[in-house]
Amino acid sequence: MPRAILSPLLALAALAACSDPSESVDMFTDSGDGADWPSYGRTYDESHFSPLTEIDHDTIGQLGLEWYADLPPGTAVGSALAVDGTVFITSGLSILRAFDAVTGEVLWVHDPDVAQRAGQELRAAWGARGTAYWQGRIYVGTMDGRLVAVDARTGELAWEAQTTEPGSGLYITGAPRAFDGLVVIGNGGADFAGVRGHVSAYDAETGEQKWKFFTVPGNPADGFENAAMEMAAQTWSGEWWEHGGGGTAWNAITYDPKYRLVYFGTGNGAPWNARIRSPAGGDNLFLCSILALDADTGDYRWHYQVNPAETWDFTATMDIQLATLTIDGEPRDVLMQAPKNGFFYVIDRSTGTLISAEAYTEQTWAERIDLATGRPVERPGARPNGNLLTIWPGSMGGHNWQPMSFSHRTGLVYIPTIELPGTYDDRGIDYGSWRRNAQSVVYDTGFNIGDLDVSAPPEDATFGTLTAWDPVAQEQRWSVPFRAPQNGGLLSTEGGLVFQGQYDGKFVARDDENGEELWSFDAQTGILSQPITYTANGRQFVTVLSGVAGSATILGPLAAEFGWTYRGQHRRVLTFALGGNARLPDSAPQPVEPLAADDFEVNQALADAGAPDFLAYCATCHGSAAISGGAGPDLRASVAVADWPAFYSIVNDGTLLQAGMPGFPDLEERKIRALQHYIRREAEDALDR
Ligand code: HEC
Repeated sequence: MPRAILSPLLALAALAACSDPSESVDMFTDSGDGADWPSYGRTYDESHFSPLTEIDHDTIGQLGLEWYADLPPGTAVGSALAVDGTVFITSGLSILRAFDAVTGEVLWVHDPDVAQRAGQELRAAWGARGTAYWQGRIYVGTMDGRLVAVDARTGELAWEAQTTEPGSGLYITGAPRAFDGLVVIGNGGADFAGVRGHVSAYDAETGEQKWKFFTVPGNPADGFENAAMEMAAQTWSGEWWEHGGGGTAWNAITYDPKYRLVYFGTGNGAPWNARIRSPAGGDNLFLCSILALDADTGDYRWHYQVNPAETWDFTATMDIQLATLTIDGEPRDVLMQAPKNGFFYVIDRSTGTLISAEAYTEQTWAERIDLATGRPVERPGARPNGNLLTIWPGSMGGHNWQPMSFSHRTGLVYIPTIELPGTYDDRGIDYGSWRRNAQSVVYDTGFNIGDLDVSAPPEDATFGTLTAWDPVAQEQRWSVPFRAPQNGGLLSTEGGLVFQGQYDGKFVARDDENGEELWSFDAQTGILSQPITYTANGRQFVTVLSGVAGSATILGPLAAEFGWTYRGQHRRVLTFALGGNARLPDSAPQPVEPLAADDFEVNQALADAGAPDFLAYCATCHGSAAISGGAGPDLRASVAVADWPAFYSIVNDGTLLQAGMPGFPDLEERKIRALQHYIRREAEDALDR
């Protein structure tokens, strides 16, 4: 069965509109006119900045909805691309859609059939965050580790490459990057399985693998792939390879045409707990690091480790932006990153030398970052080491995958920050005998899992900001507080505007100098994706996706507070232009109503036993404390839960697999029974409140 659904007339129109493959690479650089948004961050420098000025301070009042398109259930958090008047998006399980930018008409849909193929990797749930474009093709990664290339005009499959070993627990959520005939992709998985991260590059034309670089060393007995792995192995102890090591590069990839380097950021260890992974200490290269590779060969050039001996899930996978900044009177080619650990880093990108680092958000783990050594000076007690530890930021980081934007107009970086502490429970863990449940992809960090549980967030508290940061002075210029910790990625423009979707359901344009709200639109659902702007038919458009996902910790209670549910939220492509006057149908948020199940009697001992398994197996999608954040239905309201045969077959056999609900054949019947009692207890507790 052909997977591309294509309307013939529209396809012809698209054919005429698409340029020939010899098109200039200017569209990826700042010498372009900004008409297209052909890459995740628009240009190679990943600045998420546009030179377009039709929409500016004077005209913003006329900005209105031009068209919208409803999207089916699944995550709708990715960033769109726009090339030659066609908008490309990915949502759900890497389903690709192309729209006519002017009319909003669907040109084609391509479904890579991920649910059927993903197996256990489906359990991580995050879906795809973006695509890449190169010479008439669109590229996307999948949860089952494929890199998929389709024809941008027709949606027909050009090639697909398996970039990971199926069943290894590695999955792809990040956007690929394409340049010079190569497509580069990383992967994720270190929270769920004993994985070893890597980045690989493929021929954009044929799908043939060109190079592959592991981010952590394997078993020395097998020999090292290269000198970088041999060097890295010196910084590990024990039998780390038995645990995988981790270091997955699940988000940031930046191509630098000037130095012909590819930079990418690596994540946490597998497991998080450093004492298990590397019992006699060591920095554990290249965890939580920024790496520079030769773009042509994938050979190691330099690295900068953000957190030596990472143990808090502080990843350096946040977006990496390139700029030339005047520092002490000298122009410096730098890269900038606001990784999870709360510090903003400015690094000389030709050498990897740290230039400056200051805290952009609340942090309690470090005194400072030492500029002479490039290493953090950790505060006493910053590591769990056998205790129950709370520090700022937590594992969600001070900033996560939603990209920041560097404005070429103001010289400021606009960061969507998160203000949440993290708790790490290291009490009573036997570091030597700890083993991951080898058969399963299951959330397991090497700390006790109870720390993931949540209580209701205090009423007046705010948990995130939009912060304008001066990367030269390394200080905040202004900041706007938000109720929710996660909000959308940023777009800044030469028109003096900063666009952002907020978790509260507003899509907002602000003054880039002071953060003042100049315009807003009620999107009827929270927004996590990043807006883009481009021109079509001579007009400037702005496109963003609405939709929320992510259910762990306080995201569940906050989604419930706003009324964003799995089935009730409006996942949409929203496109705006001056004079746009389309309207969304009326809609009110629908709070979750936990279900009363009178003939179901909760067994407290079973419910207690089910609690940790719910956090490990189900909370990613259904929410900590079973309060969903919108990535899956709220099970406290599910009829199926109280009905044992239905519940058992959904959970064990995976009868709802096609709808994105993975099966758990590895969970024994008594464990599924315990999960049932746990969920019902949470439902009854909510009814009693
Ligand atoms: C990767 C994300 C994900 C994980 C992990 C996950 N689920 Fe689901 N689950 C879903 C989605 C999505 C649906 C909705 C499917 C549909 O639309 O029918 C769902 C539906 C369900 C339903 C049916 C709810 C209803 O009434 O429609 C039950 C019951 C359920 N899940 C139980 C569980 C349990 C128990 C676990 C842990 C063992 C779990 N799920 C783990 C994503 C997930």
